[in-house]
Amino acid sequence: MSEGSARRSARGGSQAGESAAEHTAFGPGKIIVIGEHAAVYGEPVLAGAINRGITARAVAGESAIEFSSSLSAQQGQALQRAFAAAVKAAQAPAVRVSVSSDLPVGMGLGSSAALSVAVARALLQAKGKGFGVPQVLELAAAMEGEFHGTPSGVDHTTSARGELVLYRKQGPTRAVKAKKKVRMVVAISGARTPTKTTVAGLRERRTRWPKRYARLFHEIGTLASEGARAVATGDLPALGDLMNINHGLLWAMQLSSERIDAMVRRLMALGALGAKLTGAGGDGGACIGLFKSPTQAVKQLTAEGVQCFETEL
Ligand code: MEV
Repeated sequence: MSEGSARRSARGGSQAGESAAEHTAFGPGKIIVIGEHAAVYGEPVLAGAINRGITARAVAGESAIEFSSSLSAQQGQALQRAFAAAVKAAQAPAVRVSVSSDLPVGMGLGSSAALSVAVARALLQAKGKGFGVPQVLELAAAMEGEFHGTPSGVDHTTSARGELVLYRKQGPTRAVKAKKKVRMVVAISGARTPTKTTVAGLRERRTRWPKRYARLFHEIGTLASEGARAVATGDLPALGDLMNINHGLLWAMQLSSERIDAMVRRLMALGALGAKLTGAGGDGGACIGLFKSPTQAVKQLTAEGVQCFETEL
């Protein structure tokens, strides 16, 4: 079945509009379980779509986009550029798109990719022809290019597919089927450095010390592949261990901060099997902790004033 005729599901499907002139579509956010940054250099990365994301609603009208949450001037400009790129690529009839989010924005949870996927789906629905994941990916990639420059593609691929995947920039992406539930606590450690900045900083260090960084990226890619095996065999303690090692390497590459590390330690103290930053890192942003049973940790963190939620991959 093409996506154009699919119903929306919590894992990121889309739905036909309520009337001929109205189209509503969803793009889920994502978490990177293992392998951010190394993904940019072609290493495999284990990432999963989450139960929160972005909804785009398109109605016939003058071509425009508006976001319900407040955005910085820079984010607002990027949104306008990205929308213009998608409209041009989609060749859909003119629509006015309004976007809303139940995902923390700009925190490493793939909000720009979720937005790109939701808007791509809404535009394709407005076009009125059947479409599938490849068409969504093409439009979402055009938008992500405006948001991030040269992203690896893991964020919008994970969002468009709406599942847990082992993604590789140059290679085929494969779905990873979990033998046991993979339950994560997502906790926000504070405001974050833009992805472009952390990616650029790392690129400089890698240019200066290419052999060492190639070794580290390859090791992270190996951790991601081992993580996919741990998920497939239901070995959650192994997955937790791999996440901890990945966080250590991200720290070593200057992608963590005191508040991220404090959040990672807090998640471990609350009983996580493993914890790490997720996404681009930098000053703050989202951290994840793998839990057999996350409810108590979410309750405790919430009581401590931490913005957090539970998700299952
Ligand atoms: C951002 O979610 C993930 C990074 O690896 C960047 C990318 O893959 O494009 C930091």
